[in-house]
Amino acid sequence: MLELSGVEVVYHSVVLVLKGISLNVPQGSIVALLGPNGAGKTTTLRALTGLLDIHEGRITKGQILWQGQNIASQKAESIVASGIAQVMEGRRIFPELSVEENLFAGASGRPKKDALSDMEKFYARFAILGQRRKQMAGYLSGGEQQMLAIARALMAKPKLLLLDEPSLGLAPKIVAQVGELIQEVNKEGVSILLVEQNASLALDLASYAYVMESGKIVLDGSSQELKDDKDVQEFYLGVGTKQSSYRDVKLYRRRKRWLS
Ligand SMILES: Nc1ncnc2c1ncn2[C@@H]1O[C@H](COP(=O)(O)OP(=O)(O)OP(=O)(O)O)[C@@H](O)[C@H]1O
Ligand SMILES: [Mg+2]
Repeated sequence: MLELSGVEVVYHSVVLVLKGISLNVPQGSIVALLGPNGAGKTTTLRALTGLLDIHEGRITKGQILWQGQNIASQKAESIVASGIAQVMEGRRIFPELSVEENLFAGASGRPKKDALSDMEKFYARFAILGQRRKQMAGYLSGGEQQMLAIARALMAKPKLLLLDEPSLGLAPKIVAQVGELIQEVNKEGVSILLVEQNASLALDLASYAYVMESGKIVLDGSSQELKDDKDVQEFYLGVGTKQSSYRDVKLYRRRKRWLS
């Protein structure tokens, strides 16, 4: 359904940040993209949604096939119209607009009647959003804002939803609720590419995962394979010694072997 192959991204014409990313999101699946700060996860999503140019970035190599078409040089609006929606890092809702206005903003281009009936569905699912539909969204809690951000993206009726660290800064109980919502959305037929630093959440939700470091995919496999992987356990799932990077883990293991 979505297929990136050999994608390279350069910022400001000089900084090579993605060094040949290849990954797939099959129809109907949840795929996770893991990796530490600065690995290039958000950049990968920007490449997918046509949002690189506003950050002075450019795809210099590779292609992005979405439903058989190369969208690597398409504009953000036409990518959204083709069925890809994104929830950006840091819950970018409009704090000064009401909950209802935020939801409407996500539905641009759709008939008002359909948008209204979808809104009622969200209010039924999240009573709190319904109760506060006329209130400023900035007054919602962090978790409620994340739910609103996801609901707003869904108002565009996407086929593929890109989520950039939806669990960031949320309490464990709220993280679990966001996880449930992601699962529900997927059951309704929306494919999901989930960027996360919370590896245990991501591996519980996704069927397949990629681990990215310094602009490259360093590891990929089914979620179960990654959960069983000693390096992933050590670094990403916090089992045993914590190392500063996946490569350090490799080095550390090699050194340990060499010393013994
Ligand atoms: N507009 C930009 N201009 C120059 N460099 C940038 C720009 N945006 C991001 N970068 C750099 O690209 C690299 C990858 O950044 P990116 O935001 O994609 O990482 P990330 O994996 O999403 O990290 P995080 O987990 O912190 O969100 C970083 O080194 C970052 O400093
Ligand atoms: Mg990021």
